[in-house]
Amino acid sequence: MVRVFRDTTELVRSVGRVRQTIGLNFLHTKTDNMQTQFLGLSVASPDPTYKLMAAFHADSHPNKVSLITGAYRDQEGRHITNRLSSNIASLQTVSGTGANHLAAVFLSKHLQPKRVFIPDPSWVNHKTVWATAGPAVTQHEYPYYSPSTQSVNLEAMLPFLDTTAEPNDIIILQACAHNPTGTDLTKSQLIEVADLVKEKKLFPIFDSAYQGYATGDVDADAWAIRYFTEQMLSDADSPLPGVCVAQSFAKNFRLYGERVGALHLVVPRACPLKEPNPG
Ligand SMILES: Cc1ncc(COP(=O)(O)O)c(C=O)c1O
Repeated sequence: MVRVFRDTTELVRSVGRVRQTIGLNFLHTKTDNMQTQFLGLSVASPDPTYKLMAAFHADSHPNKVSLITGAYRDQEGRHITNRLSSNIASLQTVSGTGANHLAAVFLSKHLQPKRVFIPDPSWVNHKTVWATAGPAVTQHEYPYYSPSTQSVNLEAMLPFLDTTAEPNDIIILQACAHNPTGTDLTKSQLIEVADLVKEKKLFPIFDSAYQGYATGDVDADAWAIRYFTEQMLSDADSPLPGVCVAQSFAKNFRLYGERVGALHLVVPRACPLKEPNPG
């Protein structure tokens, strides 16, 4: 349906109504035939190799053999690595610092948040990374730790975020073994933070540099990340705009000098990531 607007005021009002319906400040595409996806990102343009693969898949010859790409396959000729989910994209990064940097570059460009909330105190490079990779994003330190009680200062943290943060702002949370305090939010505190993050429609980045160091169990140390992503993925109309995880394997895999890390982007169910366009 094509709609002709009488003047710019009517156009602006109509866009405002659409934004209200969407509930977010950016585009969540819901139809399959559009060429954009999460955050209005365009779907990758066709690559000659993908075109050849599409032609191979379309070919009904019973003895067809693909010599197109050199990927490992099992006895039945199936790819060994399969796409696990259309809601998660993962990229190898130059350790945890590179993952934080890439998250800041990607989100400042595509999400265009006004603010990034960094725990006070935190790993010193959070501020440096955001100053370098997202200079247009205003940095705010949110109360995290109280030296007098030697515990997480939830009483100050929640009201501060409630009054200062706006939808699409970013909040950095350390997944476990908080640097430099070593003090983590308890599960019940994390649930309270998650409720506020949802209510305020903030975009969380989990910085996970010490998975396994808090409890000795890598699975238990991922509880916060899992809780937030499950909250988002279990709700078809999730208010969470997305979740990033900046993962370092420097300490837990003892690969400090190898600079091994990953950035994961988890997107809401309403706008799954698309395969590159086969052309
Ligand atoms: C909280 C936190 N995030 C990220 C990093 C960076 O990790 P990497 O050394 O893998 O770059 C560190 C390193 O000390 C850290 O403490």
